[in-house]
Amino acid sequence: MSERLSGKKALITAAGAGIGRATALAFAHAGAQVLATDIDEGALASLAAEHSAIATQRLDVTRADETAALVKAAGPFDVLFNCAGYVHAGTILDTDDASWQRSFSINVDGMFHLCKAVLPGMLERGKGSIINMSSVASSIKGVPNRFAYSVTKAAVIGLTRSIAADYVARGVRCNAICPGTVKTPSLGERVRALGGDETAHWQSFIARQPMGRLGEPAEIAALALYLASDESAFTTGTTHVVDGGWSN
Ligand SMILES: NC(=O)c1ccc[n+]([C@@H]2O[C@H](COP(=O)([O-])OP(=O)(O)OC[C@H]3O[C@@H](n4cnc5c(N)ncnc54)[C@H](O)[C@@H]3O)[C@@H](O)[C@H]2O)c1
Repeated sequence: MSERLSGKKALITAAGAGIGRATALAFAHAGAQVLATDIDEGALASLAAEHSAIATQRLDVTRADETAALVKAAGPFDVLFNCAGYVHAGTILDTDDASWQRSFSINVDGMFHLCKAVLPGMLERGKGSIINMSSVASSIKGVPNRFAYSVTKAAVIGLTRSIAADYVARGVRCNAICPGTVKTPSLGERVRALGGDETAHWQSFIARQPMGRLGEPAEIAALALYLASDESAFTTGTTHVVDGGWSN
C-alpha cells in the first residue's frame, strides 16, 4: 500500500459521490485519516464501509455554524479538500437572484468558511495543504450556459491565490483544481434533466472532448492526492487544469 499521506488528517466536503468520494478513497488508501463530509448520510455510510480510515460526518457547506463546530471538535487538519459545488445551467439572462445566491453560497461562501475554520490549526502547526475545486468553466475557458457557475469558479481561483499569497511563508499551501467534464452522478442527473434523447446528450458531452471520452473521478482524485502530499511541497497558488485537452 502507498503511504504518500501517512500521518496526515484530511477533511473533505461533498465526499458522498463523484470526485469527492473518489478522493476520500484515494486519500485513505494513501495512508491518511479521512473525515468525509456530505449532506447525504446514506452515501457517507456506504463510503465509510469501504475503508476503515474513513470517518464520516454530515456537513452542509452552506452552514457556517456547522463548519465551525465540526472543525472545533475534529480538527486540526493537515489537508482540506473543498470539493462541494453546485452547477446552475443558463446564461446571465436565465439567472435569477436565488440561483445566483445559491451558486455563491455553495461554491464560494462554503469554501470561505471552511478555509477560515481550518487555517488557524494549520498555522499553529506551520503546515497544511488546502485544495479548492474550481473548473475549466471559469477563467480558463468561457463555456456557454454556465454563467453563475463560471463566475463562482473564477472566484475560487481568486480565493485560492489570495490564501496562498498570505500564508506562503508560514507552511500553508493552497491550490486549485480545474477539471473538464467528469463522469459523475451529478453529470448524469444534469443529462437526465435535459429531457429527450439521453444517449445523444452524452454523445454531445463526449464530442467536445479531444480525447473522445469524459474524465473519471479517480483521475481528478489522483491530482488532489498529489497536492495533498508533500510531493507538491514547492507548489502553491496554482490552478491545475485536468481536462483531457478540452481547453487546449
Ligand atoms: N463533474 C464534473 O464534470 C465537474 C467538472 C468540473 C468541476 N467539478 C466540480 O467538482 C466538484 C464535485 O463535483 P461532482 O460532479 O464530483 O459531484 P456532485 O456534484 O455529484 O456532488 C457530490 C456531492 O455533493 C453533495 N452536496 C451537495 N450539496 C452539498 C452541500 N450544500 N454541502 C455538502 N455537500 C453537498 C451531494 O450530496 C453529493 O454527494 C464540484 O465542485 C463541481 O463543481 C465537477
